[in-house]
Amino acid sequence: MMTAGIACGLFILEEVSPTAMTDGPQNAEVHPPEEAPPEQKANTRRTMSRKTESTIERETAVRGLENVVAGDTRICTVDGGSGSLIYCGYEIRELAAQASFGEAVYLLWHGELPTEAELDTFRARLVGEMRLPSQVIEMIKLSPPSAHPMDLLRTAVSALAMYDPEAEDRSSEACERKAVRLLAQTITIVADMHRVRHRLPVLSADLDMSFGANFLYMLRGKLPTEEEIAAFELLLMLHLEHGFNASTFAARVTASTLSNMHAALTSGLGTLKGRLHGGANERALNIFSKVDGIEEIEDYIDGMLNEGKRVMGFGHRVYKVEDPRARLLRSHSQTLCARADMAELSAIATRVEQVVLDRKGIYPNVDFYSAIVQHALGIPKSYFTAIFACARTAGWLAHIREQYADNRLIRPTSNYTGPIGKTARPIEERS
Ligand code: CMC
Repeated sequence: MMTAGIACGLFILEEVSPTAMTDGPQNAEVHPPEEAPPEQKANTRRTMSRKTESTIERETAVRGLENVVAGDTRICTVDGGSGSLIYCGYEIRELAAQASFGEAVYLLWHGELPTEAELDTFRARLVGEMRLPSQVIEMIKLSPPSAHPMDLLRTAVSALAMYDPEAEDRSSEACERKAVRLLAQTITIVADMHRVRHRLPVLSADLDMSFGANFLYMLRGKLPTEEEIAAFELLLMLHLEHGFNASTFAARVTASTLSNMHAALTSGLGTLKGRLHGGANERALNIFSKVDGIEEIEDYIDGMLNEGKRVMGFGHRVYKVEDPRARLLRSHSQTLCARADMAELSAIATRVEQVVLDRKGIYPNVDFYSAIVQHALGIPKSYFTAIFACARTAGWLAHIREQYADNRLIRPTSNYTGPIGKTARPIEERS
């Protein structure tokens, strides 16, 4: 039988026996029976004196915290069984059809979609904050050209705390201002980094353009087409938020210590970089350079799987059906590839999907099609995860503020598997 227990802020779904259920609430004190025989009393005393330890011993660690409910949120929910992703009450396909990335950010931060006037004001504020302290620009210039964009982004966001006079102010008003500033600055870091590294002039955002259009323009230096804007806006919207994923959880853990927003974002960025998380999109593209044509795909994937390797951009911890984000991006990737003269890439992608589904029964996740869309937009591969991070920054910021608003230090416990009772000898007696 499944029941719920709370352990140090983590709400754990735990398998318990029917007898354990009759003992009362899972977190209740363990009381000795009223008339225990003497030998049983001794045992009971031992149990009571080591109550904390024995409680830990009885619990089962949930590997990877799979299915552990670690908190409440009003921001987003993911139903892996039906393939549904909901931002503040709206199904993602509804939002994709009706709203821009900027509108979705506003939704996550305010709980409602904006009116036209509200969106104009919001966009003006964001664009107005798209500038960096000169010291951070210098830091970008001084960074080794080989530095991964995610390492530089993480370092620059961390550094921004030192130049933000409101960094330590956790009032709701200051947090709102910092959220606008940090989202704008994160995007500016990525765009400026690319321009500086290629010795190109840094560009300013245009107030008349949407958020996604501005980002593409500041990065590539040319005005995007309507089709490019639609694909990129959607890509950003789909990366914006995804519940208690690893990086969001990391950001919330940091926020729960009442560290500042910059520190919490830095935690999120460090976590997102990993190849099992956001770092998968850069690697998802590798497969396309490893095969010479569609006919090689089957052997290539079989070879990978036989060696126990993972196909990047496939599988998901939560989705057991197709990732709705991949479904939404697929058609845009096909349109862009056709325009960008990359029709073969699209055909290879379809074949890779078929083979992986056939062999492993798993579907592409958002990273697979996001890699193709970004490639077709002419974005360098090493920037894919950083672009993901810019969008997710808006989600992290919503979570950080939600955590601050109703905070309890996130501090789980562990299942100790090491020895106990060892005697420490003086160093000269140790062999
Ligand atoms: N390629 C090959 N086999 C896979 C893959 C994959 N990408 N993903 C899962 N499997 C297999 C895995 O080998 C296992 O097979 P078996 O039962 O035969 O041993 C089975 O599927 C279950 O895998 P799991 O490791 O229990 O699944 P998980 O929930 O721990 O992993 C995951 C989720 C995302 C880490 C994993 O699917 C993976 O490594 N995918 C590749 C990396 C990737 O694309 N990450 C992006 C995730 S979505 C965006 C984001 O979060 O940033």
